[in-house]
Amino acid sequence: MTSLDAAGPSRFAVTPEPGLSPHHFEAPGPPPVDRPLGTLALLKELRRNPVATWTRLHYDRLLLSGESILGKIVVVSDPALIRHILVDNVANYPKDRLQQRVLSSGLGRGLLLAEGDNWRMQRRALAPLFTPRTVMSFQVAMADVASELVERWDRQRDGRRLDASREMARATLHVLARTIFSDGLGRRTEDFIAAVTRYLEAMGKLDPLDILDMPAWIPRVGRLKARSTLQFFDGVVTTMIEERRSLIQKSPEAAPRDLLTLLLEAADPESGEGLSEDDIKANIVTFIAAGHETTSNTLTWALYLVSQDPHARARLEAEVDRELPDGRFVPGSIDALPYTRAVIDEALRLYPPAATLTRDAIGPDMLGTLRVKAGGRIVISPWVLHRHNKLWPSPGVFDPNRFLEPNKQSIDRFAYLPFGAGPRVCIGASFAIQEAVIILATVVRRYRLDLCAGHVVMPLQRVSLRPQGGMPMLASQRNRDQRTL
Ligand code: HEM
Repeated sequence: MTSLDAAGPSRFAVTPEPGLSPHHFEAPGPPPVDRPLGTLALLKELRRNPVATWTRLHYDRLLLSGESILGKIVVVSDPALIRHILVDNVANYPKDRLQQRVLSSGLGRGLLLAEGDNWRMQRRALAPLFTPRTVMSFQVAMADVASELVERWDRQRDGRRLDASREMARATLHVLARTIFSDGLGRRTEDFIAAVTRYLEAMGKLDPLDILDMPAWIPRVGRLKARSTLQFFDGVVTTMIEERRSLIQKSPEAAPRDLLTLLLEAADPESGEGLSEDDIKANIVTFIAAGHETTSNTLTWALYLVSQDPHARARLEAEVDRELPDGRFVPGSIDALPYTRAVIDEALRLYPPAATLTRDAIGPDMLGTLRVKAGGRIVISPWVLHRHNKLWPSPGVFDPNRFLEPNKQSIDRFAYLPFGAGPRVCIGASFAIQEAVIILATVVRRYRLDLCAGHVVMPLQRVSLRPQGGMPMLASQRNRDQRTL
């Protein structure tokens, strides 16, 4: 492995920032390995938990290149070079083949994996689905789901043990079900939720055949498992589309302004071309696959982190007690919850759901002093970047204050990439942030969650970065006195 730190300037020298929390909770993660793993060990670890493969050097150097079973890999953590790859010279760095293969069943034609003109057309057509105004219109649905979540807990015994990651996954799926199909999936909701969970489970592990770039016709176990689930999706989604189309034909004003109607109306403003039936279906599956576990894991990590830091918890509780006096999120009041937002931002830093972004160079290029050949694979790892010793003061420490003004100003845009950057930045970022803030505020307003004694927390990289073995927590209803403190 070659360190090319000479290319990485020392302008990122870390000095403690004023206003950082006096509390020091180190957010757990797999310890860095001392030297790069050998071929078999790497293959095994990439399948078990890819975030456990990073070496000490990765957290210290801004640019590293080396050979592995994945071919020649360049790991980039220098914000200026990341900007070069994701923005300035983006045409040279399309998404890599490994990513395309792993996610292609079901998502193949959707925005996440599309390339070239088809991606440009889809991105323009889908932009109206995620404008600030449209995203804001979903606040009521998100607040409803959040309130229903805590009301369901209310009906159960106080001090009850629950798996926060399951609870959050349920909530974020309900949000998607309601914002995509606002008239609801009816009887199909529970089956749909079970199918999404099975699908993500089947797709979650890196298959050695993909890592080794074996031909696509060789069957992959995960994909075979995902196939029946995809057929189920296809059936449900086709019915929903037919029902909605006929409603729009009969009385357009009666059709709800949810993501499904917006998808059916979506058209490229340049060509006027609409999305095909297959593109619509692929994008529904894409929104669910890209937006469900990512957001639910963010919430799970946020609840965990807050449970470990009494100072942060007190501050969060004070804010939500003030801003949600009746226990329910008031649509339009997101800006009144800056600390809740900072907790989400910090959870996304310490546990970025998309832990690795990968690209293949299509032509030669220079990254600092490093020559990249055509076909070279580029890895930008938000996991490494967000815990990099040269980019963050006390990188492992949970401290939401980093994301409050004015501290936030000193964060380099390209040192913090939970949603990526450049033209392929996450289209659902503001949707996800809004949803996470509403759900976290509503849960914390009513409940205090503590990690069950003896449970060891460790992140596990699957489609998204999730807690290994879930997040068993004890939920106790906050009493009236606590709530009005
Ligand atoms: C906390 C939650 C989320 C995280 C951390 C996240 C993260 C990301 C990242 C890092 C990318 C860029 C990948 C790359 O450059 O290789 C991305 C793209 C994307 N995300 Fe998200 N996402 C989240 C929520 C959502 C939601 C809620 C939706 C939709 C409802 C969504 C839909 C998409 C789509 C369609 C793309 C592809 C955009 C394109 O290529 O033009 N995401 N997401």
